[in-house]
Amino acid sequence: MTTDNMSTSTDAALRGLFQTLWGFMGTQALYAASRLNVFDTLGEDILPARQLALRCHCDEASLTRLLRFLASLDIVHEAPDACFSVTPTGRYLRSDHPSSVRSLSLLYGQPSYWLPWGALDEAVRTGGPAFDHVHGTSFFDYLSTHPHEAAVFNAAMEDGSQIHLDEILSAYDFSALTRIVDIGGGSGAFLRGILQMHRHLDGVLYDLPTAMPTDAPPPEPRLERIAGDMFESVPPGADGYVLKRILHDWNDEEAIRILRNCREVIPPHGKLLVIEAVLRPPNRPDPARWMDLNMLVLLTGRERTAAEFGRLLASAGFILTRVVTMTRMSIVEAVPA
Ligand SMILES: C[S@@+](CC[C@H](N)C(=O)[O-])C[C@H]1O[C@@H](n2cnc3c(N)ncnc32)[C@H](O)[C@@H]1O
Repeated sequence: MTTDNMSTSTDAALRGLFQTLWGFMGTQALYAASRLNVFDTLGEDILPARQLALRCHCDEASLTRLLRFLASLDIVHEAPDACFSVTPTGRYLRSDHPSSVRSLSLLYGQPSYWLPWGALDEAVRTGGPAFDHVHGTSFFDYLSTHPHEAAVFNAAMEDGSQIHLDEILSAYDFSALTRIVDIGGGSGAFLRGILQMHRHLDGVLYDLPTAMPTDAPPPEPRLERIAGDMFESVPPGADGYVLKRILHDWNDEEAIRILRNCREVIPPHGKLLVIEAVLRPPNRPDPARWMDLNMLVLLTGRERTAAEFGRLLASAGFILTRVVTMTRMSIVEAVPA
């Protein structure tokens, strides 16, 4: 290797490292811009910073600095005379984008979510969730007493569901099922997507009472809401049971309790669908590794390999029949043993 080559690869390595070191600044820039409504206010327009500052109730000079930082990341574009517009990448931060990540930017940037990341070393030392160490209570108990944070979390989960919905609907044929229970289904965006595509199906949205809307929501055709605790029981009477981004919240013992409750009610011909970001082999980029660490910080859970899912399912009386791999998520299908 020549000295020139060496310095180029050192530069690239350091650039990559700084990108990671400064990650929190990017998160906070997106959080601030979303909170200030910058992306929705810009919409499809090209606006001078002065006008944008007026509309977003901001200090013009400081907003311009934030916008120029975002322009360096190709999230907004600066035209002459300090006029700004949203780039194709930035459009994902608008609330009207079909795959919007606006609510996710509000979740990842909010203090209650990132403060526990400051105690990651504590989680690694003790093996317990950093969230509990920082907030003195567990993640879902905290949400049950913090309605604003719960609303942000639920909206972010809905964003996440919309992003993966089309890919899941084309990767898996739900048409053989007749009734689906979406366990921990949150706002129901995913279940609604399945019901819209398969008109013969009906569904049950099952989640904690605290995750259900407090004012009675208008009834929806073919969709029933049931409040309950999946560690206690799971509603019977369906042939499809979905656990989407549920098992990764819990350790093996807790996950097996949830799975055994599914096993109690699933009929012999029923299907259990575990939808998660299945871990890839080590030493390569893998978004599931980021979520795995996030679970270490927030909860008792973890991401798992396909083999680990196989063992978990077997401990609860299921046989893993196949793994449908998609871009970021996988569908782990299982049937009663
Ligand atoms: C990570 S979110 C996933 C939401 C949704 N399945 C999705 O993929 O967007 C976990 C969900 O589990 C629900 N949950 C947590 N504990 C629960 C329990 N004991 N019983 C039922 N649902 C629970 C939460 O309220 C939340 O909606």
